[in-house]
Amino acid sequence: MTDITSKAEAALAAIGAATSLDALEAERLETLGKKGWVSLALKTLGGMSPEERTAAAPAIQSARAAIAEALDAKKAALEAAALEEQLARETVDLTLPALAAPKGSVHPVSQVMDELAEIFADLGFAVATGPEIEDDWHNFTALNMDETHPARAMHDTFYFPDRTPEGREILLRTHTSPVQVRTMLAAAQTSPGGAPVRIIAPGRVYRSDSDATHTPMFHQIEGLVIDRDIHLGHLKWTLETFLKAFFERDDIVLRLRPSYFPFTEPSVEVDVGYASENGRRVVGGSGDAPGHAWMELLGSGMVNARVLQMGGFDPGQWQGFAFGVGVDRLAMLKYGMNDLRAFFDGDGRWLTHYGFSPFDQPTLSAGVGARA
Ligand code: DAH
Repeated sequence: MTDITSKAEAALAAIGAATSLDALEAERLETLGKKGWVSLALKTLGGMSPEERTAAAPAIQSARAAIAEALDAKKAALEAAALEEQLARETVDLTLPALAAPKGSVHPVSQVMDELAEIFADLGFAVATGPEIEDDWHNFTALNMDETHPARAMHDTFYFPDRTPEGREILLRTHTSPVQVRTMLAAAQTSPGGAPVRIIAPGRVYRSDSDATHTPMFHQIEGLVIDRDIHLGHLKWTLETFLKAFFERDDIVLRLRPSYFPFTEPSVEVDVGYASENGRRVVGGSGDAPGHAWMELLGSGMVNARVLQMGGFDPGQWQGFAFGVGVDRLAMLKYGMNDLRAFFDGDGRWLTHYGFSPFDQPTLSAGVGARA
């Protein structure tokens, strides 16, 4: 018994003198560890007679409790000291400049598509989408271009070798106009005979064409409004309001010229007035003003009755207007870029120069309403 007591005193002294967590751990193993003498002594209790156990147990139990408590206390003290020491040793210089973190940027086309969605959302338009791999019925036929229509040949279409189960040709859509068809069919399905529609459809389109102003893939945005009393005046106001908001200036002047598209009747080509400043086209003012000219910007018109019909709408009850614009063209005009091909080269330097910070406020967050 005195043996246990003196061993316990020695252990407590060693714990008290330990100067590192390692030394403390060694002491724990020697006492309370599986093969430590306290643990072994505890095991011997099982083999004793009740009288022997009553005599021997208190010293061992109290040795164990005292050692465990001393180990805990010393461990906490050593850890606190280590932290103090670390805090004293390590200093942070808050005046040093932060390391530059590489940061991505938003492609001008994505930025412009976001801006357009925002402008048209203010005007009550929803965003609609459709497949880039289309069939010729949606891309041409339902837009009033049957198999023999000459406009089909003008689209430089990429065709796939296969056909759909219905025997339709499969192609990469040449414009976003098939989204008009898909939107009308979906609306007519829920409301037979027709229902109001107000959508824009931004997306990629494909044509077999490549030079400084054409790339085989480019972007368009389609607009479609169908309601019971829609006329050209609504079209003109919508285009003017959209272009004023997009170019962020009030002096946008449009010129509407008669034109032809199979899917609209009448069809209108829309020009915008601009001035050349330092070799750059700046949109604004009448094209007839001194130093100004007109630039063709987009195609539009009143939805052809045959297109309404093929979309499941009753043309006796519904009218609509539609328009289609090149998104890349809009981006080049607004942000002063002159080579379309650079848009799709994937050159990081170009993107660093022309890209937009993902953390900036959208430029048009004030919205169309705020300008009215
Ligand atoms: N889809 C036409 C094209 O790609 C553009 C267009 C013209 C779209 C007139 C329209 C429209 O919706 O009404 O050349």
